[in-house]
Amino acid sequence: MAESWTVRRMLAWMVDDFRGVGIESARLDAELLLARVLGGDRVRLYMDMDRPLDAGELGALRAFIKRRRRHEPVAYILGEKEFYQRMLEVDSAVLVPRPETELVVDRALELLGADAAGPALDLCTGSGAIAISLAGERTGLVVDAVELSETALAVAQRNVTRHALDARLTLFCGDLFAPLPAGRRYTLIVSNPPYVAEPDWAALDATVREHEPRLALVAGHDGLEVIRRIATEAPAWLVPGGKLLLEIGAGQAAAVEALLHSLGYGGVRSHLDLAGIPRVVEASAGAPA
Ligand SMILES: C[S@@+](CC[C@H](N)C(=O)[O-])C[C@H]1O[C@@H](n2cnc3c(N)ncnc32)[C@H](O)[C@@H]1O
Repeated sequence: MAESWTVRRMLAWMVDDFRGVGIESARLDAELLLARVLGGDRVRLYMDMDRPLDAGELGALRAFIKRRRRHEPVAYILGEKEFYQRMLEVDSAVLVPRPETELVVDRALELLGADAAGPALDLCTGSGAIAISLAGERTGLVVDAVELSETALAVAQRNVTRHALDARLTLFCGDLFAPLPAGRRYTLIVSNPPYVAEPDWAALDATVREHEPRLALVAGHDGLEVIRRIATEAPAWLVPGGKLLLEIGAGQAAAVEALLHSLGYGGVRSHLDLAGIPRVVEASAGAPA
C-alpha cells in the first residue's frame, strides 16, 4: 500500500521542494500553507503531525505549492498578512506590509502621544497598514491616507471597513498631496514610500521583483524621487512644529537627513531597525525640536 501523506511527511517534502527552488523561508512558508489548508494555526500542526491528509486537502495544498514555487509571496496566496497585530487583506495590488514598517508605527505613536486627535496623514498607504494601525491604536485620532493606485486603494478601503475605522480614516486616491482638501493641516505626516533605486530593481529577490507592484517599490535613479517630493511639499501641510516621519532604504539615511536639513526642518534624526540599519527618519516642520 502506498505510504499516506501525513502532515509530517508533507511538511518535510514541501520544505525540501521550496529550498530546491531557492526559497529561504521554506519551513515557515510550508507551515503557513499547511496550517491554512488544515484550518488551524502553526502550533496545531505540531499536534497533528501524524494525521493523514485527505484528497481535498491534498488538492488545495497542491495549488498553493504550485503558486509558491513560482515565488508568489505567501501573503498573496493566503490573501492576508498580520501587521501591528491586525490582520490585513492583501493581494498583488499592494506591497505586503513588512515587519520593519512596524517601527514607523511605533515611532509615530510615540510622537502622537496617548490622546492624539491629529489629524495625521499617511502618504503611499498601500494596504492601509500604517494608517489603520495609527487609527486603531489611538481611538481619538483622525487619519487621512493617500494612494496613487486605484486597485491598491480598493484593498485599503476593505481593510479600513474590516477594522471598523471608516468614521475616522479617510482614503484619497491620487499623487501624494494632490487629492487632499486645501487648507488641511496635519500634526504628523508619515510615509513608507517607494525607495528602491532603479538600478537595484534587478537584484531584488524574485518573490518581490516578480510579484509585488513595481510602483510600490521603485523611485527613480537613486530611490529618493518620492521622498524628495514628500519632504519638499510636507511643510505646507504641517502645523508649526508638526512632524514628518519617513521609512527609508538601507544606505539612504545620510542623504535624506541632509535633504531635510537643507529644507529647513529641525530635530532631524534617524532610528535604527532591529538589524541596526537606520530605517526611519523624523523631522519637525519649521522649528528645532
Ligand atoms: C512601499 S509601498 C508602502 C505601502 C504601505 N504604506 C506599507 O507600508 O505597507 C508604497 C505605496 O506607495 C504608492 N505610491 C507610489 N507612488 C505614489 C504617489 N506618487 N502618490 C501616492 N502613492 C504612491 C504605491 O502604489 C504603494 O502602494
